[in-house]
Order: sequence, then structure tokens, then C-alpha cells
Amino acid sequence: MACRIVVLISGSGTNLQALIDDLAPRSEHGQIVAVISNKADAFGLQRAQAAGIPTRALSHRDYPDRALFDQALCNVIDEFAPDLVLLAGFMRILTADFVRHFHGRLLNIHPSLLPKYKGLHTHARALEAGDREHGSTVHFVTEELDGGPLIVSARVSINATDTEASLAAKVQQGEHRLYPLAMNWFIQGRLRLQDNRACLDGQPIPEQGLDLEDCETDKREHAHVLQQDQ
Ligand code: GRF
Repeated sequence: MACRIVVLISGSGTNLQALIDDLAPRSEHGQIVAVISNKADAFGLQRAQAAGIPTRALSHRDYPDRALFDQALCNVIDEFAPDLVLLAGFMRILTADFVRHFHGRLLNIHPSLLPKYKGLHTHARALEAGDREHGSTVHFVTEELDGGPLIVSARVSINATDTEASLAAKVQQGEHRLYPLAMNWFIQGRLRLQDNRACLDGQPIPEQGLDLEDCETDKREHAHVLQQDQ
């Protein structure tokens, strides 16, 4: 049975698009069963509709507090009985109850090389600090904001001429390779949260997470070996 995936967004949804495109040829393994936004005008909702995916908009402004909004959001997500919930530019801090409810099946993508630069304005902060590299990270979501076990990161180098915009564009390109990779590991049953540690193929992932380049090299080598075996 296909892994049922719900994606939460607040904005443009380029990561959502990367996930949709990646799953399109193999919907028997994983299927995005709903895209939910806290903003009714999020462009990502149009991307989902264009792909024939059900959408819901649930405005946090219609709820008196965070706990009640999160409870309502939780109920809407549960209607779709997801195996996996992906935060893809969902710009809300989630309550501990929400996070606990989806324990082990809630992932986020963050635009920095975590644990550096949790929170907002990550590109500006990396530039201000004079960093030579930056990137994005996929992690399991726990109660600590951007602080759950790291899974995999995509690095980009920072040049002297980089601006916030040019850096954002480079980071985004990496994100579009990174999130589908982590999603597929989960779909294949290779990625799990065990005793609060991210594990791949039953082995704990190092605390700093894996590196996308290494994973893609491994994948190419694996494909090569398979081809030779045939
Ligand atoms: C991405 O940079 C992601 O890392 C962050 O929000 C942004 C979403 O971009 N959490 P998009 O809406 O997927 O284009």
C-alpha cells in the first residue's frame, strides 16, 4: 500500500512541487493525499490543485490561540490518515501536543546547515557571519524548534559576490534534491526515529546528519553495481 503523505505549506511551495514531481512516476509507493495551508492564498495550494491533490486552508487567525488552532489542524490532518507529514515552508511554530501526536512521522526542511541558524533569516545570518558554506537540512520534528534529530543536509558554498537572494536560490536548488531523498527513505521504510535518534537502515545517523553529496554518490555507485550484475 502506498505511503500516505500530507504536506503543510504557507507559501510558494517549490519544495512541494519537487515532492509532487518526484512521486509522480511511482504513486504506488507514495502518494500526497492532501496539502494543507494556514494561508488561503498560498501559491502552493494551486500547485497541489494542478496535480489533482485535495487541499485545505485553515487560517490560524480564526482561532483564539495556538493550542486551539493546532488541535483543529491536527483533526484535519487526521482525516487523511497520513503515514508521514511533511512541513514544507509551513511558517507556524507547532505546539508540543501537535508534535507529540505525529511523533516519528513528522519531518521539516530548514534553510540552514542545522544546528546553525535555527529560526528565521538564515541566509542573511550566514552572510553576516562570513560563513564559507551554507545549505539546508531535513530533520525529524520534536518539541524544540528546528532542533529535532538531523537526517541529511545539502551544502552550498558562499562566494564573495553572493547576496541574500543569490544564496537563497542556491539553497533552494539543494532543497529540491534533499527533501525527495529523505521522503523516499521514509517511504521505503529505511528512515525511522528510534529512541529519539534518526536511523537509516537500522543504523543511527550521526548527530550532524548525513551529507547529500555522499548519499547521491552512494546511490550512483549502487545503481552501477546493479547494472553490472545484470
Ligand atoms: C524553504 O526554504 C524551506 O527550507 C523553509 O521554507 C522555504 C519554503 O519554500 N522551511 P517553498 O515554499 O517550498 O518554495
